[in-house]
Amino acid sequence: MNTSIKNILQNNDFSKDDIIELLYTSQSEAKLLYQKAKEVKSCQVGDKVFLRGLIEFSNLCVKDCFYCGIRKSNKNVERYFLSDDEIIQAAKFAFDENYGSIVLQSGELKSKEFITRIDGLIQRIRKLTGENFGITLSCGEQNESTYSRWFESGANRYLLRIETSNKELYKQIHPNNSLHSFQKRIESLRVLKNIGYQVGTGVMVGLPGQTLSHIADDILFMKALDIDMCGIGPYIEHKETPLFEQRSTLMPLNARFELTLKVLAIIRIMMKDINIAASTALQSIDKLGREKAIQVAANVFMPNITPQSYRKNYNLYDNKPCIAESPVECQSCTVARINLANGKVAFGEAGDAKHYLHR
Ligand code: 5AD
Ligand code: FES
Repeated sequence: MNTSIKNILQNNDFSKDDIIELLYTSQSEAKLLYQKAKEVKSCQVGDKVFLRGLIEFSNLCVKDCFYCGIRKSNKNVERYFLSDDEIIQAAKFAFDENYGSIVLQSGELKSKEFITRIDGLIQRIRKLTGENFGITLSCGEQNESTYSRWFESGANRYLLRIETSNKELYKQIHPNNSLHSFQKRIESLRVLKNIGYQVGTGVMVGLPGQTLSHIADDILFMKALDIDMCGIGPYIEHKETPLFEQRSTLMPLNARFELTLKVLAIIRIMMKDINIAASTALQSIDKLGREKAIQVAANVFMPNITPQSYRKNYNLYDNKPCIAESPVECQSCTVARINLANGKVAFGEAGDAKHYLHR
């Protein structure tokens, strides 16, 4: 047992079999994995934790992903779109409070009007914040010309989770139509990188039908893509989605949580200098979920700065944290959580991924 894990952990690069073995370890053996990840983290990125103020500016979405609470077919969601002023105010809050960066996140919208509106907002925010501020977009799949236009206007990072790198599994968790094309999603990641964005991707852990072999492939996929940022969280069922029917096939929530931590640890060891987020979904399983992620591997925290009244309508999964809180409440909570995890809040730093600066 331990000897084989110890052997594997002597390297910083793992084969698919190694990864599967690491994912399979018992909780006591996993401590060795976590220890190694902590060492790599401490030496590569230190104890700084970068802040990204998360603005969930609209839950309107043209897509219908089988796992997601704001999917188009869920009629039990009150749809919203923040006004331009509300978005600018939120960005200004992050800037004034020295967050160093924001993430503009929404459902996937593709109209010309949407593209132009986001473009205008990026320009306004860039003007307001100056150059040394991270503007990350998480607005789904767009055309190359749109990605380029937004980049030219001042956005410098893009998050687009692949969700699973396995084509078959991808098909099982998305409707079978051209809007949900696995190929197009992978292509988007390549295009974003070529344009010059810092690119983040990730997957959900514990999806129905997902095996350790799939997850090992996910990790190798991200490594091969040479990503700069990573966001990985446990899959959590949402009552009003098609995948909810498969809940009896899922592993228990605490197992999904542990598995996610192992994935983060392996990623930190294999992709030593990328930015890794402590995903909010971890906290919906374990009250100290985000702290645990920081202790092991993560160096990015995304305090929610969406105005409070909209938050209940951005329910991607059941039991999502921070729904009842305000931006100010999330702020003090964030600082307390990062301190509890022995991290240092990197106020005022845009927090580019070291990996990106080196590539
Ligand atoms: N459980 C966990 N994560 C989810 N997301 C969407 N739905 C769920 C769910 N049910 C994640 C997706 C998406 C991100 C914004 O939220 O990975 O990329
Ligand atoms: Fe929102 Fe803790 S971060 S309540």
